[in-house]
Amino acid sequence: MSKILVNSSGPLHGEVCISGAKNSVLPLLAATILTDQTCVIEDVPDLVDVNVMKNMLVNYGSEIDDSEPGVIRAQMKEVSCCEGDAELVQEMRASVFTMGPMLARHGKVIMPLPGGCTIGKRPIDLHLKGFRALGAEVLEDKENERVVVSVGPDGIKGDAIYLDFPSVGATENIMMAATLAEGTTIIENAAKEPEIIDLANLLNKMGARIKYAGTDMIRIEGVKKLSGCIHAVIPDRIETGTFMLAAAITRGDILIKNALPGHVRPIIAKLKECNVSVDLLPEGIYVDARNEDLIATDIKTLPYPGFPTDIQSPFMAFLTTVKGKSIVRETVFENRFMHVVELNRMGADISIQNREAVVPGGKTLKGARVRATDLRAGAAMVLAGLVATGTTEISEIYHIERGYENFVQKFKGLGADIMKIEHD
Ligand code: UD1
Repeated sequence: MSKILVNSSGPLHGEVCISGAKNSVLPLLAATILTDQTCVIEDVPDLVDVNVMKNMLVNYGSEIDDSEPGVIRAQMKEVSCCEGDAELVQEMRASVFTMGPMLARHGKVIMPLPGGCTIGKRPIDLHLKGFRALGAEVLEDKENERVVVSVGPDGIKGDAIYLDFPSVGATENIMMAATLAEGTTIIENAAKEPEIIDLANLLNKMGARIKYAGTDMIRIEGVKKLSGCIHAVIPDRIETGTFMLAAAITRGDILIKNALPGHVRPIIAKLKECNVSVDLLPEGIYVDARNEDLIATDIKTLPYPGFPTDIQSPFMAFLTTVKGKSIVRETVFENRFMHVVELNRMGADISIQNREAVVPGGKTLKGARVRATDLRAGAAMVLAGLVATGTTEISEIYHIERGYENFVQKFKGLGADIMKIEHD
């Protein structure tokens, strides 16, 4: 299995350009199912998860042209299959984003139960609740580990749907299913992430009538047909946060280009609480952590616009190095502290009580053999390795490659002593 080796690198310095957002491009690609015309998606990052989604689409009958770097042209003239490929779904949980559009376009979808990062139970009950509210019949076939969703006798009809938690995936799936429903759908307690707005923008370009995306009450008036469109993916706010933390943990300074500051406000606020300087310049976000006197802060993850759960582990790696004790509270996923064991192998001495991690801070981390236990935990290990003494060897890096484009090269460009070792 391939590995990443990171050596103590000193302060990182330079410029980095942020790629298109993984969490946006996946639902955007799924939305191309909703029309028989060509959709052109630009600023597409080169990621394993994007390949999985392309293969999902091809399995349903899409033709994909990805000959131009960073651009995907997708057209599903006809649906040739309505069953998700089990292997692909196991590889990537976001495969379930194809359920809403398949239901709307084809009237039926069979979905094997999903895989993805091992960060908790991650059920899809809210997605299914939404489909049921729209009049779909949902059969949970536990014996064959799959879900069958099909149009009920009255077709797909708009309704009011209250989400018990503002789930990103459920909001996106219901929004896509509702675009072609009869009448009006209201999603209450909807997720407000920037990726939801990006998807609504794409769908509206295709002819959908979606209002108020980005608030907790989204209104969708169903239309009869959607058409093709051209749309560019927003920059990745989690990649942005990761490089902000790369500057912070190494006490370096990095100019982060092609980033949207409005999408990373809680990360900026928390870094400032630690005495890291963050300036919003016309050319990008400039993070300067050359101040030696960085201090602890507490973190609580929340749905957007709260502090993102995807930045919790990279931020925790940083907090191990600052002066004073920090408390990190995870409220979005029930099992997102697996990186703590790995950070402790490096000498972080973090303890966990329920959903709180106590980070004593002030540690000099030591290089060790660690695992990328999930995508963002993998990023946290790289950050920790940059400041640990000696060499840190990170295994299971396929998690990292799922969601970060040119990760190793981008770090090298900032002066990091990092390399990937390829193994079969
Ligand atoms: C998306 C992001 C992921 C991010 C997460 C939270 C993508 C591809 N992934 O994941 O990077 O960490 O948002 O910001 O966009 N839940 C239920 N029932 C459901 C759905 C979710 O109980 O039907 C729970 C989950 O178990 C979790 C919480 O809701 O505890 C948040 O999940 P959700 O917002 O749905 O995350 P994803 O869309 O899977």
